[in-house]
Amino acid sequence: MSAERIYLDFNASTPIAPEVAETMKPFLSQHFGNPSSLHWAGIPAKEAVEHARQQVAELLQCSPDEIVFTSGGSESNNHAIKGVFFALREKGNHIITTQIEHPAVINPCRFLEKLGAEVTFVPVDRYGRTDPQDIQKAITPRTILITVMHANNEVGTIQPIKEISKIAKERGIVLHTDAAQSVGKIATKVDELRVDLLSIAGHKLYAPKGVGALYIREGTPIEPLIHGAGHESGRRAGTENILLIVGLGKACDVAKRYVGDDRICSMRDRFWKLLQDNFGEKVVLNGHPLHLLPNTLNVSFVGKAGGELLSRLDGVAASTGAACHSGSVELSPVLKAMGISPEVGMGAIRFSLGRTTTIQELERVVQLLKNTLP
Ligand SMILES: Cc1ncc(COP(=O)(O)O)c(C=O)c1O
Repeated sequence: MSAERIYLDFNASTPIAPEVAETMKPFLSQHFGNPSSLHWAGIPAKEAVEHARQQVAELLQCSPDEIVFTSGGSESNNHAIKGVFFALREKGNHIITTQIEHPAVINPCRFLEKLGAEVTFVPVDRYGRTDPQDIQKAITPRTILITVMHANNEVGTIQPIKEISKIAKERGIVLHTDAAQSVGKIATKVDELRVDLLSIAGHKLYAPKGVGALYIREGTPIEPLIHGAGHESGRRAGTENILLIVGLGKACDVAKRYVGDDRICSMRDRFWKLLQDNFGEKVVLNGHPLHLLPNTLNVSFVGKAGGELLSRLDGVAASTGAACHSGSVELSPVLKAMGISPEVGMGAIRFSLGRTTTIQELERVVQLLKNTLP
């Protein structure tokens, strides 16, 4: 008999929500027109795209004109970072980011270094949080962009974006946040965060993979990433992927019901309590105890190898804090930047909960861990 399947990897990807799938259906079979066409087939397609734009804007509390649809979180980040660099390279070449960003931020920055950018990767504390003062200190007269993720994908730590935005505003520097992991989990109102650019990834919020959005505050200096015809008001060329865009719009609409709902957070807290009760000092939390995504629990089983442990949890889908590079297992750059020792970091497992997670599943994982760990 095969083991019960338990999915605790919602930070890696979410299933498509049933309401989202339902909304997308007519766009698989009936509505095929090009949104740029002015006839009977194009007009409903255009209306569907604009309705979705409105739905995304409502979640972020911005104007629909400030939303550009993209192919996902990676494209949104590339657009934001390269777009601001290309728009402002006459003014300056300095970019500030952190050491724990997703590769979809780190690598565009590394790429721009080859084109003359100077990038400061500010450190984080042992909980994965950036000190806004470190950002302040890193600013030079040549700084054109600050890009700091809203919440970290591995450990779930939430960054002090409002404090960072205060600093950025005072110095007139464009601020981008990669909100791929926070949208739909915590509030991401752009005027509260006071960001100029914000990235969304559809498949982290129960929309399909391959779709996302970039919020661009009106007036932000930014070049397009993809040049071509005038789609998306000249900001992103390419015939709109209506099917996926409609899915993203609906997902944002549904997400409004979940932001601030503490069911998942309570389960996560209960899970952490059970782990502590059962494993005491042998289990430690990676990530901030308070400023933490409500669904994420990254814990280390001290002295163990996370990957090995996970492979013994039959049927459980979760992630580890280490990755295999050319044959050897290395600590993730995020845990490294947090100053976590290899003894602790190598035993890290990220459990990320979602809408369908039940407390019974979490109790089962604790039982499986008890059977595995001496
Ligand atoms: C924080 C963060 N940013 C960006 C991305 C990339 O998003 P996508 O897979 O949609 O390109 C991810 C996905 O893992 C992520 O977790």
